[in-house]
Amino acid sequence: MESPTSAATNLGEEAAAGFRERFGHEPDGVWSAPGRVNLIGEHTDYNEGFVLPIAIDQRTWVAVGRRHDRLVRVASTSSSTSGDTVVEHGLDDIAHGSVDGWSAYPLGTAWGLLQAAGDTELGSVGGFDAYFTSDVPLGAGLSSSAAIECALATALVDLWRLPLDSDRVLRATVQAENIIVGAPTGILDQSASLFSRAGHALFIDCRDSSRESIPFPLTEAGLRLVVIDTRVKHAHADGGYGDRRAACEEAARVLGVAALRDVSPEALEEGRERLDEVIYRRARHIVTEDARVQQTVALLRSQGPRSIGELLLASHASMRDDFEISVPELDTAVETSMAAGAIGARMTGGGFGGSAIALVDAERVEELTEAIGVAFAKAGFEEPVTFVVTPAGGARRESR
Ligand code: GLA
Repeated sequence: MESPTSAATNLGEEAAAGFRERFGHEPDGVWSAPGRVNLIGEHTDYNEGFVLPIAIDQRTWVAVGRRHDRLVRVASTSSSTSGDTVVEHGLDDIAHGSVDGWSAYPLGTAWGLLQAAGDTELGSVGGFDAYFTSDVPLGAGLSSSAAIECALATALVDLWRLPLDSDRVLRATVQAENIIVGAPTGILDQSASLFSRAGHALFIDCRDSSRESIPFPLTEAGLRLVVIDTRVKHAHADGGYGDRRAACEEAARVLGVAALRDVSPEALEEGRERLDEVIYRRARHIVTEDARVQQTVALLRSQGPRSIGELLLASHASMRDDFEISVPELDTAVETSMAAGAIGARMTGGGFGGSAIALVDAERVEELTEAIGVAFAKAGFEEPVTFVVTPAGGARRESR
């Protein structure tokens, strides 16, 4: 197996080489940004609550070169939809509906940054060429789209010398997703990809997007974090994600609060009879999940990663039963992980497919991986992809 460093170097070089070949000039530099797994705190971000993701070793790399006109050209090796073709678009006419496929992520990011920077900057920058490589699996719930957005945003802030603070860059990448792609997602993925620190989880209060790095010393605790990609593809621009968001907003409206973040477990019980049964269960997931994130952070601080297993499991049960965003493959991954000796396991990300995570003793990783393979084959599911991740650092410039 390749070490992360050699894989990383190759992908960075591949991005620069692909750029030269495709566009016929030298890039101004290479930047990268990671995918993420969320340890706990699912669908809480757009309810102005708490989340606790880590960035993972898998990253997206982009070689970028400025242009003197107002044209944008993007290409990628890793997109299943684009193949190796170049997408061209004017910098000034990017809008929802004017772009499609994977290019909506980079084009939306350029658009989001220009919106954030305002008119003065808008006239002064030129277009750009960008070539992407990546080892973040696509559609696996590991934020491959955020990795594209955050790698490019970091590059463009450098190259365009945009005077934006980190929160405005964050908002620009989220707007790319919300407005240009049309997925009503929150700030979890892009925050993790931009701001994570190696060896740490990122505790985010999504009301004001304040962040704190929490030590997550897996290796020191003799543990590994295993990702189980079920290969069940999902897309958040589809209905399920938006339906859940609408249910949460409805619950907040009926309970008379700005967001479900403002509802305590006790207040939810008091307001129960005012809520439709399904809406009540959706809200109960959010309210209890916010509490679990805070408990997880407290436990990580006082006792370390070995102590958080039960909270991970409770989170999964809540998503399966109350929020109803799990699928049989994710439940099988979690149940099999626990039967194979994991300390805790849960689905991660938006749901309806994607990946699960399992926290397990280092020496039991192989046993767990095998057990998952057997259980999936027995159930007639597609063969899953299982790999170990470590908490990695966020978006950065890699070379000039
Ligand atoms: C997706 C979204 C995030 C978040 C998660 C669920 O990853 O992009 O904003 O809502 O789902 O926690």
